[in-house]
Amino acid sequence: MEKTLTILGLESSCDDTAAAILRFNSREAPEILASVVHGQTDLHAAFGGVVPEIAARAHAEKLDICVEEALQTSGCDLRDLDAVAVTAGPGLIGGVLSGVMCAKGLSAGLGIPLIGVNHLAGHALTPRLTDSTPFPYLMLLVSGGHCQFLIARGGQEFSRLGGTIDDAPGEAFDKTARLLGLPQPGGPSVQATARDGDSKRFRFPRPLLDRPGCDMSFSGLKTALLRTRDAVISESGGLREQDRADLCAGFQEAVVEVLAEKTRRALEIYLQESPSEPVLAVAGGVAANSAIRAELESICAIQGITFLAPPLALCTDNAAMIAYAGYERLKMGQKDDMTLVARPRWPLDRTAPALLGSGKKGAKA
Ligand code: KG4
Ligand code: ZN
Repeated sequence: MEKTLTILGLESSCDDTAAAILRFNSREAPEILASVVHGQTDLHAAFGGVVPEIAARAHAEKLDICVEEALQTSGCDLRDLDAVAVTAGPGLIGGVLSGVMCAKGLSAGLGIPLIGVNHLAGHALTPRLTDSTPFPYLMLLVSGGHCQFLIARGGQEFSRLGGTIDDAPGEAFDKTARLLGLPQPGGPSVQATARDGDSKRFRFPRPLLDRPGCDMSFSGLKTALLRTRDAVISESGGLREQDRADLCAGFQEAVVEVLAEKTRRALEIYLQESPSEPVLAVAGGVAANSAIRAELESICAIQGITFLAPPLALCTDNAAMIAYAGYERLKMGQKDDMTLVARPRWPLDRTAPALLGSGKKGAKA
């Protein structure tokens, strides 16, 4: 019979508790047997952001439930597991700690290897899980907590070309929705509202485009939106539907333009390495935005580069990507022991200068 490897992944670094079971056969094609995600949006809705203590409690309560559900869905027994991979950072420390403790218990109880995974590596390696994408490829990770360009060179080898120095774009979308009285999460509602808007009516800034490099900034855009909204209100006594649509369209266009220009610059650096099969991959919730996707797709089409956007469920936080990243480490003969620590900050590329940003969704790296 064909030898297989079954890995349990656990994720609890932000506001999603997740467990997944992946099976690898000898030809290395991974199969997702189960991927369970329990979100916490409702628990944090009243507070305008993720509350770390509430998140940590919910993770501690839900991890076991997620593991049980994943086992049930996959038809696996605990004894079928060959290894447990867990997000060991970066993220909200209470949540990361819950996951690490749960994984240590399983590893010790079952006598199977424990593998600590960098959450960002999970996102960055997703194109290999979904499409067996060969290294090196360029990754734009763009979510409510992260925004960075990485060249993925190996299972543990990433070069960061640049990233946000303050907020992530998802935060800016969420804040925009809040300021305009639109529902959360803000990304999808701003996108929908922008559809009927005139993007040229209000001019929003394009932060850091005047500076070389791939770093980005989105907090000024939020402030600009607040000021413009207040100016409209004081002029006409309130916000009409058309005002909302025009504000959303102008804001979204600014985000698209910044991401597009910075992507062109990141591609230029990446292409200098002459990859034989050049690929730009995206991950993170903001990658769901159709205007952003369309722009990135067209940039890639012009330059003859493959554009890869994994299915949304694997772009947003999940444990399948953690199990996969754990597999890449295990393949290299790496694993951890009971000294594995939970890390609030954990840059993927230690040689890149530190990014200053630390947004509502926790510490960045
Ligand atoms: O990756 P994700 O699920 O969670 C983390 O941030 O870790 O991303 C969630 C973010 C939210 O800020 C949400 O507003 C944003 O992704 N988002 C979008 C869209 N769909 C989700 N932003 C822009 N356009 C969208 N269609
Ligand atoms: Zn994430």
